Amino acid sequence: MRTPIVAGNWKMNKTVEDARALVSEMVPNLSKVNGVEKVLCPTFVSIVAVSNLLEGTEIGLGAQNMHWEENGAFTGEVSPVMVSEFCQYVIIGHSERRAYFAETDETVNKKVKAAQAIGLIPIVCVGESLEENKAGETAVIVTNQILEGLKELDPALAPKVVVAYEPIWAIGTGLTATPEDANAVVKDVIRPALARLYGKETAQAIRVQYGGSVKGDNALDFFSQPDIDGALVGGAALKADDFIKIAQAAAG
Ligand code: PGA
Repeated sequence: MRTPIVAGNWKMNKTVEDARALVSEMVPNLSKVNGVEKVLCPTFVSIVAVSNLLEGTEIGLGAQNMHWEENGAFTGEVSPVMVSEFCQYVIIGHSERRAYFAETDETVNKKVKAAQAIGLIPIVCVGESLEENKAGETAVIVTNQILEGLKELDPALAPKVVVAYEPIWAIGTGLTATPEDANAVVKDVIRPALARLYGKETAQAIRVQYGGSVKGDNALDFFSQPDIDGALVGGAALKADDFIKIAQAAAG
C-alpha cells in the first residue's frame, strides 16, 4: 500500500508574514486529515517561520529546490545540509526550474542523490510540453527524464523517491490531463521506466503524484485512479480551504 502524498508548491508567492497567516489558517483542519502525507513547500525565506508553526504537527516541510554540493562558492544557492536542518522533503526538477533556470536531467540526478544522502525525500518532477504531447512524444520524453534523472540511486533508498507527473501544459493553466490519461502515463510509462532501473517491486512501491491545475473540486477524480498517489499542487495550495479539500480527497 502506497500512502498518498499531497504537497503544496507555493512557488514565488507569500511574504513571511503572509506565509505565517496561511499556515496558521491551515494547520487546525489540515492536521485532522489522516492517512495522507501532507507537505508545505514555501520559499526559502519563509522556511524557518513555517517550520516553527509546524512543530508538533504531522505536516511536513519541503524546499522547492537546492544545490547538490554541501557548501562552498555557489552564490545564491542553498545546500542539502541547510535544507535538511528544517525540511524533510525537497522538490527537484520542477518544469519551471528546467525552463527558466537551466535545470537538466543531469543536475536533477545530482540533486536527487544529494537529497537522499542527507535523508531528504526528493519529489522529482517529470512531464512533457504541449508540443511534445501533440507530437505523441510523451512516453519518450518522460521515460528519458526518469531513466536519466533517477539513475544510479542507492537501491535501498530508491523506493523513497516521490515522482510528480506534471504535464507542462497543465501547470497553472486551468487545463488538466484527463484522470485516465494521467493514470495511463503513470502506469504505462513512469512505472515501467522505474522498473527498468530498480525492478518491478520498487516501481510499485514508489509514490507518483499528479500535478497541474489540481483543485479542491477535481482532486478526487485523480485520486480515484489506481496509479496516482496524491498531488503536487501549485495555485490551489495558496488557499487554505482548497488545499485542505485536496488533502481530504486523498484520504479517501
Ligand atoms: P498548478 O501548479 O497547480 O498551479 O497548476 C502545479 C505545479 O507547478 O506544481
